[in-house]
Amino acid sequence: MLVGLCCFLAGLAVPTLLPALWARLTARSSDADLYDDGADALVLNLDEPSTRWFNMGYWPPGERSFSSAAAELCRQVARAARLEPGQRICEVGYGSGDSTLLLEREFAPAAYLGLTSLASQHATAGEIQLRQGDAAKDLDAEPAGSYDAVLAVDCAYHFNTRLSFLSSASRLLAPGGHLALTDLVLPSTPLSLLDHLLLSLLLLVAGCPRSNLVPLDTYRAQLVAAGFDPDSVETRDVSDEVWGGFCGFVRRREEGMGRGRGVLGGKWDGLRRYARVVEWYAGVRSGRPKMRYCLVSARKA
Ligand SMILES: C[S@@+](CC[C@H](N)C(=O)[O-])C[C@H]1O[C@@H](n2cnc3c(N)ncnc32)[C@H](O)[C@@H]1O
Repeated sequence: MLVGLCCFLAGLAVPTLLPALWARLTARSSDADLYDDGADALVLNLDEPSTRWFNMGYWPPGERSFSSAAAELCRQVARAARLEPGQRICEVGYGSGDSTLLLEREFAPAAYLGLTSLASQHATAGEIQLRQGDAAKDLDAEPAGSYDAVLAVDCAYHFNTRLSFLSSASRLLAPGGHLALTDLVLPSTPLSLLDHLLLSLLLLVAGCPRSNLVPLDTYRAQLVAAGFDPDSVETRDVSDEVWGGFCGFVRRREEGMGRGRGVLGGKWDGLRRYARVVEWYAGVRSGRPKMRYCLVSARKA
């Protein structure tokens, strides 16, 4: 018993107390160092986030909040679908359910079906009825023509394949219903062979089928082939509003929270490196863009 207690105290003392004691004994000035670590103050003052948005955001000039920008991207998609109260919405890739709550609150649907691929996100989505499933395969289990809008915020480039998602979405929509999504497309000017290779590698790492990345005119043709009205197809290049804002946000946070691992630890380090990759393919700080980020909508014929 006594031995156990001693081991427990030693286990506590060695990793925590001894380094602090050593720091105190070797410190040149004795008064300030206890409170000298600005990182401790930063960590103590962090608020627990009330949302779990996981998109790149839509950043109007002056926007500095990630969660507000992420919510705004969702609103942009909802508006592109011309949502009206009382409609039946199907949303794929709903993440942790923040878009579900926003759509419920601001667009008052009569029915909402959410489908996302991750079991962990499915579990955190709260009380609303949401399903785990694959947007490219599982929508066909729903009755044809049973929704007024199909939405996909910052996720369709993952679907295997997006082409089959487009045809499922078209089948699911009632005539006159709208599909709206944000997506990645190739720029209109051709890329060098090296850029093509690097992009293919990036898509492989990100789990996105290479065939999903096409120029806008091919994208339009795919929508029409899937059953959308050719005159209704609208595309808006929002790369500057999305990528510029997102990359600026990451850099500001890095300055505020410390470079490298900083206060936020290894997770942030990974996101920071990811933002550098975004800067490369978006051409945000230099070089020409290798991809574009578009808001796309179309009406079922
Ligand atoms: C970048 S996150 C966007 C999440 C959310 N839309 C948001 O705005 O916060 C991509 C989402 O797509 C979902 N996803 C990826 N592949 C999918 C698939 N084949 N079917 C359904 N959802 C998928 C992921 O689970 C994740 O929730």
